[in-house]
Amino acid sequence: MKSLASLLLLVPAVLAFPRNPILNRRDDPTPTTEVQDGQTGTLIVLPPQATETGLKQIPDAEHPFIAPGPDDQRGPCPAMNTLANHGYIPRNGIASFEQITLALMEAFNLELIFGANMAANNMLTRGNPFIDRLSIGGVSPLVPPLPGQIDGPVTGGIAKHGRFEGDASMTRADAFIGDNRDFQDLLYDLDLLQLGKFGGDGPDGESTVFNVETLIGIKKQNIMMDQAANPMFEFAARRMNAAYGESAFMLNVFANGTTKQATLPIIGSFFRNQTFPQNWFRAASPVTGAINGATVAQIMAAVPTPPGRNNDQGVYVADPLPPAPFNSSFGCFAYFDQSANTPGVLVNTTGIFQKNVRLLTGIQSQLASANPGCTQEILPFGPAGV
Ligand code: HEM
Ligand SMILES: *[C@@H]1O[C@H](CO)[C@@H](O)[C@H](O)[C@H]1NC(C)=O
Ligand SMILES: *[C@@H]1O[C@H](CO)[C@@H](O)[C@H](O)[C@H]1NC(C)=O
Ligand SMILES: *[C@@H]1O[C@H](CO)[C@@H](O)[C@H](O)[C@H]1NC(C)=O
Ligand SMILES: *[C@@H]1O[C@H](CO)[C@@H](O)[C@H](O)[C@H]1NC(C)=O
Repeated sequence: MKSLASLLLLVPAVLAFPRNPILNRRDDPTPTTEVQDGQTGTLIVLPPQATETGLKQIPDAEHPFIAPGPDDQRGPCPAMNTLANHGYIPRNGIASFEQITLALMEAFNLELIFGANMAANNMLTRGNPFIDRLSIGGVSPLVPPLPGQIDGPVTGGIAKHGRFEGDASMTRADAFIGDNRDFQDLLYDLDLLQLGKFGGDGPDGESTVFNVETLIGIKKQNIMMDQAANPMFEFAARRMNAAYGESAFMLNVFANGTTKQATLPIIGSFFRNQTFPQNWFRAASPVTGAINGATVAQIMAAVPTPPGRNNDQGVYVADPLPPAPFNSSFGCFAYFDQSANTPGVLVNTTGIFQKNVRLLTGIQSQLASANPGCTQEILPFGPAGV
């Protein structure tokens, strides 16, 4: 377990930077490509917020479902898999930061910075931010290791456990226990037991509509089962934030935009079939971090587990809070923990590589700044090669 003392030592000296993201711009006089270690890097540019943000039926005629082929990457995120199956991001499952951010706005009506932050977290931890490529599944020859192999000989893809992918998922096993990448019927069926107990009434009077009470029941069950079954169980602040956020997505993102209802057939279509439901509408207005965060707060208030992990005896122990001022809110704790698990070597880069890294960390910092205590940017300071 990380000791609080080691965190405290690192923070004031290396981590805290005034919030001053380097915004990459198309009109920047520096070239937009550059070669390092035989790879051609591309300057990442944050797309603008979409201007058409109303109700819209998804998919449109240009984005039919096509099942993935054997060489196409798919992984633990039902949203990324669905976007790839419909060609909103490349069907081979290898995408750039811009492609993911644009697809999140178009198909799910995510507000720009909220969506870009998730793309940034994953690009920085499991992608190649120099060439601007991320696998939505596992290791791919299309996403080479970072120049100089500064983070080890392979780039994992979002399915690689540890930095972002984590324990207590709704439909994937913990990496230590089994398959953390593919949909598991058994786990989904257990989630549906909670729906049966807590869900809202569907048209036939059965409990088939997901609500906050269902999400609370599901997360309590996921945590309880995995804490008991997985000696390496870890539910640190960044993972808690993501896990609750991902369950909140069912109500705020997967729900039909017209009725705001997340029904069993809709959730089943995304999770099981990784396809947009028939006759589905994206959210009627942009889904912001504040909107999804409000649902996360409701879940957190009802689930008593603090951020933490199992010790060598299999006993769950709370993690220490980060140093002040980052201890002032849970959101800031999660931001600190994400930076603590993003390789510090990324900051030590040059040229386009460094510009891309600083663009992505600036986006993370901008989203986090809504939380009390997150007054400063926390640059990545985690270990490499894990
Ligand atoms: C509209 C935006 C998004 C939605 C609605 C969404 C939805 C979800 C859901 C529901 C899960 C939970 C799966 C489970 O617990 O069984 C999940 C997991 C995951 N998502 Fe997404 N996601 C979104 C954006 C992204 C983006 C942009 C990335 C990366 C590029 C990403 C990467 C992941 C990863 C790595 C996991 C696995 C976490 C784990 O269970 O360990 N997601 N996502
Ligand atoms: C998944 O697809 C199959 C085959 O098209 C279909 O029979 C089934 O109803 C779909 N399930 C959901 C939950 O959409
Ligand atoms: C979404 O709501 C509209 C009515 O507003 C309905 O026609 C449509 O079937 C619903 N779609 C799904 C997937 O439930
Ligand atoms: C944060 O840390 C500071 C310094 O150790 C401490 O004085 C303060 O009470 C802590 N705040 C919270 C909310 O724990
Ligand atoms: C960054 O580079 C400097 C100089 O080469 C080195 O001393 C330092 O350890 C590096 N930091 C990280 C996090 O790799």
